[in-house]
Amino acid sequence: MISFNNLECSIGRDEHYSSPFPFPPVQKYNLESQKEQFINMVIKFYKYCQRSNVSTNLPNYLRRYFYSCDFSKKNIVFLQEKDGNTVSKTEIKSISGVVLGDESSQLQIWTFSMAREEGLFSESYMVREHHPDVIKYLPFFLLDGNEYEVGEGPYLEGNIPVLTDKKWDDWKLKMKSSIQHYRERIYPIFQKGLVAASALFNHQNFSVLDIGGGDGELAFSLLESCPLIETYTLIDGNQVSVDLALERKNYGFIYPEEDRKRLQVKQGDITKMDLFNAIGEKPVDVIVLCGVIAYQVLSFQASQALLQRCKKLLKDKGVILIASHSPCYFNASDFQNMGWEVLNKSYQYPLDLNKNEYGLEPFYVLRGNCKTSSGPKQPVLIRI
Ligand SMILES: C[S@@+](CC[C@H](N)C(=O)[O-])C[C@H]1O[C@@H](n2cnc3c(N)ncnc32)[C@H](O)[C@@H]1O
Repeated sequence: MISFNNLECSIGRDEHYSSPFPFPPVQKYNLESQKEQFINMVIKFYKYCQRSNVSTNLPNYLRRYFYSCDFSKKNIVFLQEKDGNTVSKTEIKSISGVVLGDESSQLQIWTFSMAREEGLFSESYMVREHHPDVIKYLPFFLLDGNEYEVGEGPYLEGNIPVLTDKKWDDWKLKMKSSIQHYRERIYPIFQKGLVAASALFNHQNFSVLDIGGGDGELAFSLLESCPLIETYTLIDGNQVSVDLALERKNYGFIYPEEDRKRLQVKQGDITKMDLFNAIGEKPVDVIVLCGVIAYQVLSFQASQALLQRCKKLLKDKGVILIASHSPCYFNASDFQNMGWEVLNKSYQYPLDLNKNEYGLEPFYVLRGNCKTSSGPKQPVLIRI
């Protein structure tokens, strides 16, 4: 019987965050008191996967969610003992998982990348779960926004077609759960992300371009939370949304005049129009892509092309903020392959602090024009 004893762990990175990104862990940790909790959670999760491993013929499932935790800065080392003797010393470098299936029947596949003296190796386990609650097993709350990544999809593109322009006329009335998610989770993340981004510009005034900005609800919430925004240009193709945004700008008694003055609203097809011209041929500091390069909104190819065009629209130190309710087409490695530096991958918010329960959202912050570019891979469906 192999036992896990003599847990050793030193959680690295206790330095102060000098850059606003990645977002720091939701719980500030104290190296000494939390290191044991941290490693215990990881080991508990590892044992849980070993214990629950099932051997099964996999049905034709589609991938639904993915999670990954990067522990490379955490130095999680444990000793395995057999009959009182140490047989190995192992470091868990990272964990990644995919959840396959639907609500009624789910299968999770977890892969642990580890290192021993002999070298690197990995172990994968299949766990059958009806109500997967992986969050409570993994110490996400002690990881920063770049040490973990969460996401949904990819889906079979044909199953979720791109919505027609007409559908955007009244999406806020018809897709109530989606818009509740935007208001409660996604808009606040953009507010925090934009306020944090202002530190990148030394708290000087900066400019924002909101592509596919819809009816201006997000725009006004950002203008309100960030007085350093000098100009905010919103572009959308949908006439009803653009009219609502203009109504907010021109007649919105509830919005302060100084916010209304900073906003410009333009209409056009973001996949075709000259976006550089729309911003007066002056690159901007921040691009907001909220619910845009996502399933249902644009095609994969249109999203890829739009991101490529964003490079010309951004100043050298500028950043793009990306989140959506429908799954985003790309993950961090796709963005890197497209030549972006990924400053942040995900964001977490506390659900129940007493139970260490957190909600996790993908929230990408991209910067700059890096050289490498093998391009993103087409979303691959995991069919097993
Ligand atoms: C999910 S909504 C997000 C709206 C806004 N960003 C928000 O978060 O409230 C997607 C928006 O993209 C716009 N859109 C989709 N395809 C477009 C296109 N080809 N050109 C311009 N706008 C487009 C829609 O009109 C819609 O307003």
